[in-house]
Amino acid sequence: MWWSHAVVYQIYPRSFQDSDGDGVGDLRGITSRLDHLTNLGVDAFWLSPIYPSPLADFGYDVSDYTGIDPRFGTLEDFEELVSAAHERGLKVLLDLVLCHTSIEHPWFREHPDWYIWSPVEGPPNNWVAAFGGSAWSRDEVSGRWYLHSFYPEQPDLDWHNPEVVRALQDVVRCWRGRGADGFRLDAIDRLVKDPQLRDDPPARKPFPLPLHQDAAKLEMRYSGNQPELIDKLRAVREAAGDSLLVGEVFRPVDEYPRYLEVLDLVFGFEFLFSPWDADRLRAAIAPAAELLGRVAWVMSNHDFDRLASRVGPENLRSAAVLLLTLPGCSFVYQGDEIGLPNGPGADPPYDRAGRDRLRHPMQWDASENGGFTTGEPWLPVIDPQERNVEAQHADSESLLELYRRLLELRPRLGSGFRLLDSEPGVVAYERGDHVVAVNTTPEQRSLPSGEVVLATHDGEGLPPHASAVLRN
Ligand code: GLC
Repeated sequence: MWWSHAVVYQIYPRSFQDSDGDGVGDLRGITSRLDHLTNLGVDAFWLSPIYPSPLADFGYDVSDYTGIDPRFGTLEDFEELVSAAHERGLKVLLDLVLCHTSIEHPWFREHPDWYIWSPVEGPPNNWVAAFGGSAWSRDEVSGRWYLHSFYPEQPDLDWHNPEVVRALQDVVRCWRGRGADGFRLDAIDRLVKDPQLRDDPPARKPFPLPLHQDAAKLEMRYSGNQPELIDKLRAVREAAGDSLLVGEVFRPVDEYPRYLEVLDLVFGFEFLFSPWDADRLRAAIAPAAELLGRVAWVMSNHDFDRLASRVGPENLRSAAVLLLTLPGCSFVYQGDEIGLPNGPGADPPYDRAGRDRLRHPMQWDASENGGFTTGEPWLPVIDPQERNVEAQHADSESLLELYRRLLELRPRLGSGFRLLDSEPGVVAYERGDHVVAVNTTPEQRSLPSGEVVLATHDGEGLPPHASAVLRN
C-alpha cells in the first residue's frame, strides 16, 4: 500500500500560501509551493477543509460538501492542484467532516430529519460539547433543540437515517472522481450516537479527552463511539473504494483495532499528551507499535500545541527523529519542519477554543510577511527573520535539512520494530538493521553500537537532547 510507510504533510490552507493578496492562503498558492513538499520528500498532503463554510469552526463547519470555498479558489484551481500534485507523485488527501454540517448548510432547513433533535423541550440528556457546555442548543427558527458535538453552529447529522448515509457516500464518490487519493475522517468516533439518547457517565472531561492508558478507560459513551459506527464506516468505505481512510479517533488505543477493521489508519495522538520523558514516550509508543503500520503518528496539528512550543526548542530535532523513524505512517504539520512555535493568535480571537495561535502563516522567506502574502495576513506572520524555508533550505545544519535527511533515510529502515532496553532517559528501538536512540535528558548518554548514519548533534556519544540513527 502506498501509505504503509508514507509521510503525509498537513496543509492548513488559510495559512500556507496566498496567491491573490487577500491575506488568506488559497489553492493556487498551494500549487505554487509544491516544490517545498517534493524537496522535503513527503508522499502526500492532507488539506484541512477547503469547502464553503461560514467559518464558525474555520472550515470544519461545511455548508456545501462538493464546492470549493471561493476564498480558496475554484474547482478548476482544485483540479490543477491535484494534477500538479499527481505529476510529482504526491497523493492528495481531503478532510471529510461527516459528523456534522454547518448550521447554514441548506440541509438543516430542507432535511431537518437528517439531524438529531431532542424529543423534549430542552436538552434530553447531559451530553457535553467538545469545547464545553451542553451539546444541545435551541434552534430559533423551529424552537426545537438540536445536538451539536462541537460548536452550536455545527449540528450533528443523524447517521441512523439512511438518507444521510447515501448523501455522504455521494460526497465521497464526488471527490474521488475529482482525484482525491484519500480522506482524513474528522471526529469520526462521534459519528453515531445512542438512539435512546441516554446520559453519558458523569465524569467525562471536555475536549481534549484524556488518552493515556490509565485515564483513558473511557467508560461507555452514549454520545459517540456506538456499536453501529463500524457499519456506517463500512458504508463510507464502500464509497471510498481503495482510497486511503485515516480516522481521527479520540479513544484509547486498545479500541483502535475495531476501527481498523474498516479504516486503513487511525491517528496516534499519544504524543500530544506525553511530556518529553523517556518513560512516557515509551508508554505512548508501545501499545500503538503493536498495531504496526496502522497508526498514523502525530506530534502536532491545527488543534494542539505546535511541536516547538510543546517539546521545547532543545528537543525539536529529536522529536523529528522520533516522528519520522517510527513504523507506519507519520503526519507533519506545516511549519513544524522549520520549528514554527505557537503564535500570539488574534484579538479578538477567530477561534473561540483558542486555536488561532497554532494556525499562523507559513514563513517562506525573511520578508515582512514571510512570503506568505503580499497583502495583510489574516493572522500575523510570527517571526520570518528568525526562521523561514529559504534560509533553512540553504543551511545544511537546519531543522528543515534534518527533516529532509530523515525522509531520505526512512525507506532504508527495516519494517520491523522492537523497543530496546536503554539507559535511563533514552528511548531506543530497532528498525530492522537500524537502531534509533533518543536522549530525552539534559545529560550525556552513550550511543548504542553501530555505525552512525544520522545524528542530530555533533559530539561524542549521545549528547544532551540528541538523537542518532545507527546501522548494525
Ligand atoms: C476535529 C478537527 C477540529 C474541529 C473538530 C470539529 O477535531 O480537527 O479542528 O474543530 O473536529 O469538526
